[in-house]
Amino acid sequence: MKSFIFILALLPVTAIGAGLKVGFYSKSFPSVETLVQQAVATAFKNNSGIAAGLIRLHFHDCFVRGCDGSVLIDSTSNNTAEKDAAPNNPSLRGFEVIDAAKKAVEAACARTVSCADILAFAARDSIALTGNNLTYKVPAGRRDGRVSTKQDALNNLPSPLSTAAELVGNFTRKNLTAEDMVVLSGAHTVGRSHCNSFTNRLYKFSNASDVDPTISPGYAFLLKSICPSNSSQFFPNTTTAMDLMTPGALDNRYYLGLANNLGLFTSDQALLTNATLKASVDEFVKSDNKWKKKFVKSMVKMGGIDVLTGTQGEIRLNCRVINSGSAALELTTTMTGSAASSGFDEI
Ligand code: HEM
Repeated sequence: MKSFIFILALLPVTAIGAGLKVGFYSKSFPSVETLVQQAVATAFKNNSGIAAGLIRLHFHDCFVRGCDGSVLIDSTSNNTAEKDAAPNNPSLRGFEVIDAAKKAVEAACARTVSCADILAFAARDSIALTGNNLTYKVPAGRRDGRVSTKQDALNNLPSPLSTAAELVGNFTRKNLTAEDMVVLSGAHTVGRSHCNSFTNRLYKFSNASDVDPTISPGYAFLLKSICPSNSSQFFPNTTTAMDLMTPGALDNRYYLGLANNLGLFTSDQALLTNATLKASVDEFVKSDNKWKKKFVKSMVKMGGIDVLTGTQGEIRLNCRVINSGSAALELTTTMTGSAASSGFDEI
């Protein structure tokens, strides 16, 4: 029995992101990252909010069936896809940017780059655009999944009503740590939220108090003026910036906001309710630099969740539609040599 346990301890555990590699397309398609970057930059010029949308799109891809581009698949007459689950529809945005990038990529080098990789590159490019050139190398080689269901999205995406324990549980199930969770929540320093994600804190909060007593009264007053109690019914498209101080800049102000009771969601506020999580928040309030360094590391880690590599999955031709059976088979046999390489390069 003892030797059995010893052998088990020696067996390799598949590391998060195993099979991905920085420079995966360096031989097969060296200009791919430039093409994706151009598509993101063009979209950003028209609407700078799209950067936040793409960062969240990558997160919602990775937390549901791994980073396999499944969030990009459209619903069909007999399947409601992830993108149409309540946490995603109508709030997720950036799909057209991925379509534009994929079009440019396919035109230059067909059937080589997965939609999942394009999304991972686009999230990194969005971080560079909002984070004052903050950047990192993206290990690539993801393959696209062929399944996308509403139920998987409902089961795996964290709710803005979550407690600290629920959030930690949600992230550890994806092999991310509690610290990764606090670090990645800092993405709420950019972008917007619809009213229904936080009105639970503004109206009929509890028998004792109409408004969540942990939110700053001034902030609650402001939010009520933006989102009246009937807003979800009559103004479902109303949104507000999540970071009051610097809504378009990726910086540590999210944590400063939290520390001053300016967190927007119950789940943001929850980071202050546990001593370990709060210690990380305090650390990032003090140092933007420390947070940024950890943020890019956690983004790479998140980008490695349950990835399909090698001959798994497919290279989808249209990010919204899975390939037909024959096309998928054909693609499996035309994979580039580098696709078989393994090892997760350190950055
Ligand atoms: C910790 C658990 C998390 C919860 C409960 C959560 C929840 C939410 C909710 C409810 C919204 C607003 C959606 C809307 O109503 O429009 C939102 C927005 C956003 N989230 Fe999270 N989130 C979490 C973690 C993350 C992570 C890990 C990232 C990325 C690394 C992220 C990035 C974003 C971004 C960038 C936006 C703004 C999107 C936009 O402007 O289109 N979130 N999040």
